[in-house]
Amino acid sequence: MKKDIRIAGIISSPKFNGNTSTLVREALKGAEDEGAIITEIFLPQYRIEHCTGCFRCLAEGKCHIADDFETIRNVLCDTDGIILGSPTHAFTFNSIMKTLWDRLGFFEFLTCSVAGGKYVVGISAALGMGHKKAAKELASFATTGVFNRGYISGILGVGLGGKEVANNTTILKRARDLGRKIVRDIIRGEQYPLQNPYSRLIKYFILQPLFRKIILTDKEDKTKGVYSELKKKGLIK
Ligand SMILES: Cc1cc2nc3c(=O)[nH]c(=O)nc-3n(C[C@H](O)[C@H](O)[C@H](O)COP(=O)(O)O)c2cc1C
Repeated sequence: MKKDIRIAGIISSPKFNGNTSTLVREALKGAEDEGAIITEIFLPQYRIEHCTGCFRCLAEGKCHIADDFETIRNVLCDTDGIILGSPTHAFTFNSIMKTLWDRLGFFEFLTCSVAGGKYVVGISAALGMGHKKAAKELASFATTGVFNRGYISGILGVGLGGKEVANNTTILKRARDLGRKIVRDIIRGEQYPLQNPYSRLIKYFILQPLFRKIILTDKEDKTKGVYSELKKKGLIK
């Protein structure tokens, strides 16, 4: 039987009905058109504290801060594709999204538990500067992990000059098409062999041996959580 395909859309705009929200929802509709089960997470409705930099997640396998982070993380772990949407703030994605990334943090960098093997789309709305950069940076979430790569299905960065995207059928269609594409990528198992070749080489020859050694050395203590997650995924012996 064909497995259900799950797509989550994460919106970090403070505006529930702003441009970013409209674009992410349109992409989710596209994913739904292709038969995916969709989930929207409007980040400002959740309580996500700042990362305290304690590194306890590496030992414990989860963050110790009692807020909504684990709820969101569990949704993300259970998806095949993630659509990340943020307004462009100061030429990059906004601090609400960054807070979530920080909390996923070093644990995600080492274990790829959320993004590994997944497909990611980055969407950013702006007045007119830095939107492509912001969308690219959002999509790069797929490719940051050390031991397992994810794939970038596409990006959409739009400068709207203060107008509402809800009235722009061309851009709405681009968002919807991206939502369709991420599902088609998942169905086909698209491998994007030319995506990030240099950073993949660096990871393979330098970072993986380095971190493997560190993780194995401390696997009963400081890196216990990372070790058991990687072991579960068959990414470490
Ligand atoms: C703090 C802040 C920083 C911003 N920085 C940029 C920027 O670097 N480039 C730009 O073109 N627009 C910038 N904008 C404008 C927003 O990107 C724009 O209004 C966008 O449509 C907001 O998306 P939203 O409707 O989803 O909130 C900024 C807005 C704020 C509030």
